[in-house]
Amino acid sequence: PLAAEVFRNRGVEVDEITGMSPEELIACIGNYDGLAIRSSTKATADVLAAAPNLKVIGRAGIGVDNVDVLAATQSGTVVMNTPFGNSITTAEHAIAMLLALARDLPQASASTHAGKWEKSRFMGVEVTGKTLGLIGCGNIGSVVADRAQGLKMKVLAFDPFLSVERAAELGVEKVELDEMFPRADFITLHTPLNDATRGIINADSIAKMKTGVRIINCARGGLLVEEDLRAAIDAGQVAGAAVDVFSSEPAKENALFGSDAVVATPHLGASTTEAQVNVAVQVAEQMADYLLTGAITNALNMASVSAEEAPRLKPYFSLARELGSFAGQLTESALQSVHIEYQGHVAGLNTR
Ligand code: MLT
Repeated sequence: PLAAEVFRNRGVEVDEITGMSPEELIACIGNYDGLAIRSSTKATADVLAAAPNLKVIGRAGIGVDNVDVLAATQSGTVVMNTPFGNSITTAEHAIAMLLALARDLPQASASTHAGKWEKSRFMGVEVTGKTLGLIGCGNIGSVVADRAQGLKMKVLAFDPFLSVERAAELGVEKVELDEMFPRADFITLHTPLNDATRGIINADSIAKMKTGVRIINCARGGLLVEEDLRAAIDAGQVAGAAVDVFSSEPAKENALFGSDAVVATPHLGASTTEAQVNVAVQVAEQMADYLLTGAITNALNMASVSAEEAPRLKPYFSLARELGSFAGQLTESALQSVHIEYQGHVAGLNTR
């Protein structure tokens, strides 16, 4: 509701529709200039093909797994997300999962509710003085590092995009994965899912880890091979895992389900009142800015354009859109020469 209020206050007409089937979305999307979504609506190539007027897709959240970004780019549609709005909330969930895992909180709670009073069954571990390995140290990972240091943990970080200066500023030790695996008592994932990260936790990487390691995943399900993790838990190599995200969601069945050593939540990483307000307001502001002025922030398939630059560049957006759809029909080599011509044109534009 807050996002709709932002749009209306900015003079953008808005329809609030939830729970549509893919077919219903395809049937109505042709009427709209913008599509604001959370995680369950899929902006597929079919949706984009049915949306000749669509100029922007705004994802109230971080992951754009539910948007076909390539198809959007080919149709000249800007895809935006809100990379900062829920990062604190997600980092807090990872820390909550870490502590829940260290002290068997969900299992102990269920047992106590059942009147069992199993005091000797639940023997936890302290986190003070333990080593936490971060895989990914960006917007969310860096907040996790800060909070973990408050819990007196030593933090190792693997992130190819983390500079040595930034690592020093965060007080973390920048390491390679092979260096982290034998040292970390806890490992937490904070990276997007892509070809480089898919299945990064698997039987081979687990074999390099400390026996008794605990693994937390509040990022994306496909980062770990669930069957391999379950086998390692059952074998005692991994002491436990806390997972908020699954390879297939909503997860009704999963290799990790049914293990007492697994804490599971239904993708609640961003589920706080504060984060939902942040992402709703931010996505509506960003989309309204683009639709009304051409200014672009937090786009995944286009560079940022400030409100000052937008009026000068706006006429070229339709040119770029035409070039994009034309390029879709070209061969690789023809595409290369169009790309070079276009770069030259932009360079000329910038110097004028
Ligand atoms: C995100 O990508 O923003 C989070 O995983 C939360 C969500 O998908 O809703």
